[in-house]
Amino acid sequence: MPATIVVGAQWGDEGKGRVADWLASQADVVARFAGGDNAGHTVYVGDEIFKLHLVPSGILHDRVTCVLGNGMVINPVNLVKEIEGLIEAGVPLSPERLHISTRAHIITPAHIALDGASERARGQQAIGTTLRGIGPAYTDKIARRGIRAGQMKDSEDFADSLHRMMEDANQVLADDLRLDVDTLTVEYLKAAERLRPFLRDSSAYLNQRLKENASILCEGAQGTLLDVDHGDYPYVTSSSPTVGGALSGLGIGPCFVERVVGVAKAFSTRVGSGPMPTELDDPIAERLRGTGENFWDEFGTTTGRPRRCGWLDAVAVRYAAQINGFTELVLTKLDILSGFDELKIAIGYIIDGERVASPPATSAELERATPIYETLPGWSEDIRATRDWVALPDAARRYVERIETLVDVPVRTLSVGPEREQLIHR
Ligand code: IMP
Repeated sequence: MPATIVVGAQWGDEGKGRVADWLASQADVVARFAGGDNAGHTVYVGDEIFKLHLVPSGILHDRVTCVLGNGMVINPVNLVKEIEGLIEAGVPLSPERLHISTRAHIITPAHIALDGASERARGQQAIGTTLRGIGPAYTDKIARRGIRAGQMKDSEDFADSLHRMMEDANQVLADDLRLDVDTLTVEYLKAAERLRPFLRDSSAYLNQRLKENASILCEGAQGTLLDVDHGDYPYVTSSSPTVGGALSGLGIGPCFVERVVGVAKAFSTRVGSGPMPTELDDPIAERLRGTGENFWDEFGTTTGRPRRCGWLDAVAVRYAAQINGFTELVLTKLDILSGFDELKIAIGYIIDGERVASPPATSAELERATPIYETLPGWSEDIRATRDWVALPDAARRYVERIETLVDVPVRTLSVGPEREQLIHR
């Protein structure tokens, strides 16, 4: 059976967690391929809210096996906390149900401290990272001095590498960021011991399962516009949260991929720095963001930061469709648009007097982009209880159909609320 890849079509936070949760009900294996605990998925099951940063939300489906792939960077201490929290909440979680790739990289306290130091040094030009050590961990991986998760099998080797990395970091860190190397090494060794039974050659496992006809769901984190190659550099994360990253981050071949599901929110949000052409700073943005009282309001799951909000940017979503070859789109949070008299969609940009149809390569150019808007009629009806495409207000259907045309990908699924069943399948 084939693989399905779920990818964010904007700047992250598109609602991939709930889409993965829905698709996981049809999968045997759910595998994450990039990023680390910079991601945050909120999944709502019955009365319980699960905030997951590393473990795929597929873990909430008893028959699913979850994989943390080789493309990820993993903070062992935080992963242990997440595992224990899930076990406490009654989720059956054992090494049979969760595999950690021996080739994934470890985020150490040195990476977290260096992330903070680098952001501080950038001042006004800060990326607005999640301060989880993601960038420095990938930097060490590419510079061939990182620590692979497989090293946790050998306590002495792991402790030596950790020690060395933290001592090196202490040479350059300011006094207030300097690390207590011995205490932190002990903490990490304890986490390594807990995680040891979960370690495995995950690529071999996934390929074996694919041969057995299992269905694999590859769960993306972040979004296409945060991709280190395709996003608006340097305001990106340090990994490839796009389809290419899924294949290399799991060690599977393209021949297995049948569906590439793009997830886009019905409007735009972004957290952290960097240009966002359709950003609004007015009562409309406040309405899109929500007050923060509900977990689905636009405040970061990982950092709690209010997200920047604005109209849908079809230029960005069309670009994401091109990069990833989406076979279908899921449009989330359509219900939030109820009650607006009119809605706008950016269909192109004007940069330096010229009309452009796709994002430019430099953030300086994107900063100068003025969106070209198309205005569509809004609808007043509350659509949260709607489960049928034809029962949606005409204006809502027209809004969705216009997006399909602009992005040139069919919108097969819509979400109209945070709960599992608040989905409309076409
Ligand atoms: P980093 O991944 O922590 O290095 O952060 C780099 C950029 O990606 C910052 O703008 C973050 O706000 C953004 N980012 C990282 N992870 C996520 C996510 O899961 N959702 C939304 N933005 C993210």
